[in-house]
Amino acid sequence: MSSNPESRVAVVTGAAGGIGAAVAARLAADGFAVAGADVAEGAAFSCDVRSEADVRRLRDEVTARLGAPWLLVNVAGVFFEHRITELAEEDWDLILDTNLKGTFLTCKTFLPAMIEGGSGCIVNVGSTAGIRGGHTRAAYCAAKAGVVNLTRSLALDHGGDGVRISCVCPGLIDTPMADWITSRPDALREFEEGLPAGRIGTGDDIAGAVSFLASDAASYTHGTVLVVDGGVTA
Ligand SMILES: NC(=O)c1ccc[n+]([C@@H]2O[C@H](COP(=O)([O-])OP(=O)(O)OC[C@H]3O[C@@H](n4cnc5c(N)ncnc54)[C@H](O)[C@@H]3O)[C@@H](O)[C@H]2O)c1
Repeated sequence: MSSNPESRVAVVTGAAGGIGAAVAARLAADGFAVAGADVAEGAAFSCDVRSEADVRRLRDEVTARLGAPWLLVNVAGVFFEHRITELAEEDWDLILDTNLKGTFLTCKTFLPAMIEGGSGCIVNVGSTAGIRGGHTRAAYCAAKAGVVNLTRSLALDHGGDGVRISCVCPGLIDTPMADWITSRPDALREFEEGLPAGRIGTGDDIAGAVSFLASDAASYTHGTVLVVDGGVTA
């Protein structure tokens, strides 16, 4: 595993999505060799993060083609509005397994080589839904709260191994996942008018935060939960 920033390898899950694509592009511009992974078409590596066998295969393929990853960015996720009283068990599993179990599986699988190399970095994408509750998203809030505290606990366990582990919590970002509100112009306008930033976020807003946490400028950040939300939780 190389510790030279110019030749470090980064794995980005959810790379076919709005935030994942922006993160992958920004990390490539920063000098990383980026392996984009997704269950959907559009990423270089195919991987369902809910499957340990898939995640192991991803690690083996990326390591063989690019080298052992120094950076893991967990972006893959799913969201849909729901009420718990009407949420099917398989939909609870879909939300928890994609957002939380997937983060566990990738951390479990990619950490050993980072520990062995004595250097590495993980950035998990949580959500403002992981630091407070919200209407019509209880399972998603539970999953993202799990991501936030998984991040903090792993940072405690592995800082001494030379691995920094942090979390970015986006607010509302203009990707297909935000269709539930961007498809309703009046609701979106009302939301934006109440924001200190005055606008919905972009994938690049999140990519900038990931880029910082993965950089040497963030060498004293461990277990950081970086909220990038235009001020919605201020
Ligand atoms: N868009 C927002 O407003 C917002 C806000 C807060 C947090 N987030 C989080 O940001 C992350 C990225 O979301 P986005 O806005 O880019 O949404 P998106 O729907 O554009 O992208 C999500 C990507 O994850 C992939 N994915 C889904 N299930 C997968 C699986 N099992 N294995 C591998 N890949 C899988 C999808 O194929 C998709 O490409 C998610 O974790 C999401 O929860 C988004």
